[in-house]
Amino acid sequence: MRIDVLTIFPDYLAPLELSLPGKARAKGLLDLHVHDLRHWTTDKHHTTDDTPYGGGAGMVMKPEPWGAAFDELDIDGATVVFTTPSGAPFTQEMARELAGRERIVFACGRYEGIDQRVIDHARTRADVREISIGDYVLNGGEVAALAITEAVVRLIPGFMGNPESLAEESHEDGLLEYPVFTKPASWRDLDVPPVLLSGDHGKIAAWRHDQALRRTAERRPDLLHASQAISAGDLDDLDVRPATRGDAGEILTLQRACWMQEAQANPGVEIPALGESLDVVRASLDDWVMHVVRHRGRLVAACRGRLEGDVWDIGRLMVAPDLQGRGLGRWLLSYAESLASTQATSYSLFTGAGSVENLKMYKKAGYRLRGEQPGIPGAVLLTKRRIF
Ligand code: ADE
Repeated sequence: MRIDVLTIFPDYLAPLELSLPGKARAKGLLDLHVHDLRHWTTDKHHTTDDTPYGGGAGMVMKPEPWGAAFDELDIDGATVVFTTPSGAPFTQEMARELAGRERIVFACGRYEGIDQRVIDHARTRADVREISIGDYVLNGGEVAALAITEAVVRLIPGFMGNPESLAEESHEDGLLEYPVFTKPASWRDLDVPPVLLSGDHGKIAAWRHDQALRRTAERRPDLLHASQAISAGDLDDLDVRPATRGDAGEILTLQRACWMQEAQANPGVEIPALGESLDVVRASLDDWVMHVVRHRGRLVAACRGRLEGDVWDIGRLMVAPDLQGRGLGRWLLSYAESLASTQATSYSLFTGAGSVENLKMYKKAGYRLRGEQPGIPGAVLLTKRRIF
């Protein structure tokens, strides 16, 4: 992975030489470049800010140095992260997503922010993220770029000596981590919970899960509700479970409604999901791991996956047309990924070459276009490396 950081305080990023990012660089997994934005100024004072149009307190970062830096660093196709208190909250899921990127460019704002046109312009050339590391205001985005880099770099495949430790930490399974203990078993009259000394791995796992749930309920109740995690507005009673044969009729109905849109977006392309009979849908449940999502009884979404060699093949990702645009599809995609068997080292899926919205969502989720889908003219294949 290559990371470029654009800042007017390059010395702020010195810690990236240390600790984990330093180790990733030494291992050749990370190619890191920190740049002084003032290098792209043209006046003798190296000015990077100016007064805001419309008045108001503070200064705004001028667009020209950013534009020149973007050109010279060739940001096209990269993921450009603007660190800003008005961005989307940074999460472990985002860290996982960013760990799959080949190139990230951090743009660290200062003062009252960066001229909006810089962000709009970057959007025409790159996948732009505006990210906040919390609901507080720092003097600039450098600390946020440091924090995001550390969270991302440790997830780069090959970085962690023991990838299993990643799976067990806070936020990885949507819960906070359970409390941990080490020797001695008794310290200052405080004892390690006896179950951890019992050697009964089943009991230990159950105790840890229970502790994780309690902690999460106490400290972060917002994490416990699936519908909150998917920001699906008023969809508060989602029920997700493996599909049964009894679901086949509703799956067929939903599938036809969803792929009707696909047919319109891809004229002339033959769409298997549209032509299938009820029997074919029913039989497919034996060959695929399919899950359905219900909202107050109504089947509103579904997805399926199966292992092909070491690839987890994802398909039939569908969300009822009236519920699209609420983040449900994006959530469903990561859910479909979470169903992958342990042998899978990557994910694949296909969609119509003309399905602009789908392609946008898949690319945002870290999928890369791999050309035509063999055997389906007009469809394109996308793949993504699995991050353990
Ligand atoms: N810049 C200033 N405050 C910030 C924050 N909370 N997150 C990201 N960037 C910032």
